[in-house]
Amino acid sequence: MVDVILGLQWGDEGKGKIVDYFAPRYDLIARFQGGPNAGHTLYVKDQKVVLHQIPSGIFHENTINLIGNGVVLDPVILKRECETVKSFGIDYRKNLYIAQRAHLILPTHRALDKASELSKGNEKIGSTLKGIGPAYMDKTGRNGLRVGDLLDKNFTTQYIRLRLKHQKLLDGLHFQEDVSEMEEEFFEALEFLKQFKIVQGEYFINEKLSQGKKVLAEGAQGSMLDVDFGTFPFVTSSNTISAGVCTGLGVAPQQIREVIGVTKAYCTRVGSGPFPTELADETGDLLRKAGSEYGATTGRPRRCGWIDLVALRYACMINGVTKLVMTKADVLDDFETLKMCTKYRIAGKETEEIPFQMLQQAIEPVLSSFQGWKKDITTKKDFNSLPEEMKTYISFIDSYLKVKVSYISNGPGRDQLIEKQ
Ligand code: GDP
Ligand code: IMO
Ligand code: MG
Repeated sequence: MVDVILGLQWGDEGKGKIVDYFAPRYDLIARFQGGPNAGHTLYVKDQKVVLHQIPSGIFHENTINLIGNGVVLDPVILKRECETVKSFGIDYRKNLYIAQRAHLILPTHRALDKASELSKGNEKIGSTLKGIGPAYMDKTGRNGLRVGDLLDKNFTTQYIRLRLKHQKLLDGLHFQEDVSEMEEEFFEALEFLKQFKIVQGEYFINEKLSQGKKVLAEGAQGSMLDVDFGTFPFVTSSNTISAGVCTGLGVAPQQIREVIGVTKAYCTRVGSGPFPTELADETGDLLRKAGSEYGATTGRPRRCGWIDLVALRYACMINGVTKLVMTKADVLDDFETLKMCTKYRIAGKETEEIPFQMLQQAIEPVLSSFQGWKKDITTKKDFNSLPEEMKTYISFIDSYLKVKVSYISNGPGRDQLIEKQ
């Protein structure tokens, strides 16, 4: 069986911490999409670590980690991540496997990402500039290079051909950047990559499943950034939802059991695009401060707002969420009043559906107010000891979404997670 942990909002829901927490219950943790645009934070021996491409199970000695075919992999960033992992005394070669079919991010993909953003003027996506979009374009355009190609003697010729193609595109966008230094680093990192166990991911994972091993698929980004169902065009370039697990790992849909959806107790977004419950005011600033809401990959301040139940119900529907994890509940500890969005008002009409065009200016969130708990919950260990106001807040979410909050995260630490019986 395969369980999935994924984000239900616009990313950064705290997936890394939750995967790290559940990892000991699984034999294999696999990333199925995205790439170094992700930044998954965990705490190991009280020290903060941010992983970008390596699955968040790497710090558990007996857990196998797989970078699946659906990922776009930047070898330069992988090398850096491995150095971090090594500094914790972990032999990253032992438990890390990479799918042959995963596509490579080239230095020119990064340049193309920058060129594309610059060309958009005021309509920038706010990309992390890691080359994600251009790398997925080369995948669907059938031009990309894959990890398995590294072992082909014609790799360099293929690389030069693709680089030339990219150069023409860059010239067309009047974008100039000297990639020669990045290229040197890239080729060094490719040599580094060759030491890993490069496998046929789909056979590897299915063999484990047939042996009865337990697999956990780790999502990156969030459902509202999904290329099909998110707030297009302000999205990422992959399927971040549970359906992406099948194509990103090569597992059949009937293998999927639990879909564990992670949501913050409020909402954030980094980069541009619609965010109906955004608080561009003092309350938003308070949320940012209390939640330390700055991007784990880019350091950018995250936009903050109230929890959006309309978007969350949509995300539960398209993912088939079976359990919810609510993170960063402690961030709301000092708020007198809390709000949740239960409807959108668009052109005077109320709706509980996500519209095709989500123009922020046109959407007015209909908010319900709740009393804050005004208590420190960071040391709480069981659900019963949580403040009554918080229980009311959670039970409203349960009944609106018709999926239960099963875990509440009350701090960034590994042990700060409360199970609701
Ligand atoms: P991810 O991309 O979904 O893995 O999330 P990020 O790592 O980008 O961002 C989540 C941030 O919130 C990280 O800094 C975590 O350490 C932190 N975090 C996770 N859970 C909690 C929580 O329950 N409370 C608080 N205060 N911080 C948390
Ligand atoms: P994790 O896994 C939050 C956002 C970017 C931008 C848009 C497109 O840490 O939750 P891209 O670089 O993919 O072309 O950027 O998506 N974005 C994320 N936001 N968390 C992430 O990952 C993100 N990955 C991409 O900010 O708006
Ligand atoms: Mg993140």
